[in-house]
Amino acid sequence: MTQDELKQAVAKAAVDYIAPKLDSDSIVGVGTGSTANFFIDHLAELKASFDGCVASSEASAERLRGHGIPVYELNAVDTIAVYVDGADESNAQLELIKGGGAALTREKIVAAVADEFVCIADDSKWVECLGAFPLPVEVIPMARSHVGRELLKLGGDPVYRQGVITDNGNVIIDVHGLRIDQACALESQINQITGVVSNGLFAARPADVMLLGTANGVKQLSA
Ligand code: 5RP
Repeated sequence: MTQDELKQAVAKAAVDYIAPKLDSDSIVGVGTGSTANFFIDHLAELKASFDGCVASSEASAERLRGHGIPVYELNAVDTIAVYVDGADESNAQLELIKGGGAALTREKIVAAVADEFVCIADDSKWVECLGAFPLPVEVIPMARSHVGRELLKLGGDPVYRQGVITDNGNVIIDVHGLRIDQACALESQINQITGVVSNGLFAARPADVMLLGTANGVKQLSA
């Protein structure tokens, strides 16, 4: 199977997984990226079964609206039943690296509100140890050089992501060369750097469930 076929399979599996949990008042949190896009397309088949969505990016909001699915501001809803999103890496604890699509901060906020976080990914994202994928850090633009120097002190190799402005008007620094075995501690440490908005480690709030696309079918995993 191709990587896109695996992404399609997990997107469909996610719709099947969440369908029994939804009612006409339910809000679904929707992530960002190519796997999330496949999920949005399958979610459209279910749109009569829930109220609407909160999106983690302008791009996902636009795709949802294109399917006629109502999109709410996060401040307009009280609860999110389930959040479904992809990842750049996951370990066995379902701690993630996210932010390859530069939407990490909104993704983290929506995940924090959601009752359940379902991660969907093809098995190329499954790793023993996080860090081979460069860790994205969202940064206030004027703090870029300062944050870069501080990230160097943590042992990483920070690289400014040229030409990318987040939905929040900030920039991204990708930190290469990290071997992350204490994800919660590093997530917190990076967040302490003045000028950092958030980082792409999802360890304080990991996924609850992973639907992992493999050549032998979709596996459902919990930490
Ligand atoms: C966007 C993300 C995505 O979930 C992550 O980059 C995975 O993307 P894809 O599904 O395209 O492989 O965190 O900020």
